Amino acid sequence: MHVLLVNGPNLNLLGQREPGIYGCDTLATIEAELTVEAQADGIKLACFQSNFEGALVERIHQAMGVSQGILINAGAYTHTSIAIRDALTGVAIPFVELHLSNTYAREPFRHRSYLSDQAVGIVSGFGSKNYSLALQGLTHYLRRNG
Ligand code: DQA
Repeated sequence: MHVLLVNGPNLNLLGQREPGIYGCDTLATIEAELTVEAQADGIKLACFQSNFEGALVERIHQAMGVSQGILINAGAYTHTSIAIRDALTGVAIPFVELHLSNTYAREPFRHRSYLSDQAVGIVSGFGSKNYSLALQGLTHYLRRNG
C-alpha cells in the first residue's frame, strides 16, 4: 500500500513556529517517525511539503495511479482553497484531513474547511500525534474499503 503525506504552508516551520499551539516537533522528525511506523505496517509513505498552492495541487495530481490514500495537513489553505479541494476530489483518492491544533477551538476563520466534507475522516487537536492517528485511521479505512 502506498500513502502520500502532504503538508501545506508554514508547516516547514514546525518546531519553531508558535510551539504553544503546534508543539516542538519538527516536520523532519514527524515525517521520519511516520515513515518508520508506516514501514512496520507494510506501507510505503511519500512525504511532500510546500508553501505554494499550485505545487500542492500538482503533487496531489501525481498521486493518481500511485497512492491509495492521502494524509493532508493543508495548513491555512484548509480554510481558503477550492483548488486543493478540487484536486483531492479530482484524483478521487481517499484522504484524511489532519491538523495539529483543534481548529474549532481557535479563531472563527479556522472553523471552515473546504476539505472536511470530502474527507474519509478528520483528526484535529492532538499535536504531532495526529499524524500517527491519521495514518492508522486511513489504513484501517483502506483495508476495509480498498
Ligand atoms: C493547522 C491549522 C491551520 O488553521 C493553520 O493555518 C495551520 C496549521 C494545524 O495543523 O493545526 O497552518 O493546519
